[in-house]
Amino acid sequence: MKTIADLRRMKKSGEKIACLTAYDSSFAQLADEAGVDLILVGDSLGVVVQGHDTTVPVTVDDIAYHCRCVGRAVRHALIMADMPFMSCYSTELALRHASYLLQSADAKIVKCELNRGQESIIRAFSDCGIASCAHLGLQPQRVNKFGNYAVQVRQANQPSYLMREAESLVTAGVDLLLLECVPEELAAEISESFPAVTIGIGSGQACDGQILVMHDVLGLTKNPPAFSENFLSGRDSVAAAFSSYAQAVKTGRFPPLKQKGA
Ligand code: KIV
Repeated sequence: MKTIADLRRMKKSGEKIACLTAYDSSFAQLADEAGVDLILVGDSLGVVVQGHDTTVPVTVDDIAYHCRCVGRAVRHALIMADMPFMSCYSTELALRHASYLLQSADAKIVKCELNRGQESIIRAFSDCGIASCAHLGLQPQRVNKFGNYAVQVRQANQPSYLMREAESLVTAGVDLLLLECVPEELAAEISESFPAVTIGIGSGQACDGQILVMHDVLGLTKNPPAFSENFLSGRDSVAAAFSSYAQAVKTGRFPPLKQKGA
């Protein structure tokens, strides 16, 4: 079973980390066998599994249920559980929900979309021996505050803001930084400046690893994000698609290099 120490070693050696979401045993087993290093049981399940418009309705029990399904199939990958909307509202709540996901749902690390000034939650996780990932840049759980995703990308990605945010989270003891829709140069600077392992989604090539939503990789999403790729296209099985995705991340073929002027 992969551990957080393996991810740190991969960052150091420059070996790219392939990450994918999964929500049930069948797909998790295929992702695991395809060589995916980390499986995220993401709150994206609210949209791709439950049929909601956003991730906001997802509960901690939903994540725990899907995490258990994934955990029964996975033999190698590290399992990361998402902390859904409002589950990290206070340190006490965050600790209670994180320990529930670690103790009863097979997760080894928890991911949170934190607000500014919530570094104390990461410090408490660290003090209690809970591995954590902070989701920075586009934070889908805030969609109702901004009305859409584009405004948030513009606001959250101011370089000085994001660098300060990353620095204080790293100081507090965060293990992973998930960077969503962060400009490539800024993602590169964060990846180089801090020991935390960076996982990018729509944030260019320089992150230590990449993640995509499983349904985008399989071409199942109606309006997939521009940064994703359908790896099932031209292949005849889900196993082949997952394996091609993992290889593309590991060899640096995904995401593609940014075109000059793009
Ligand atoms: O919930 C999710 O699937 C995510 C994505 C960034 C992969 O957070």
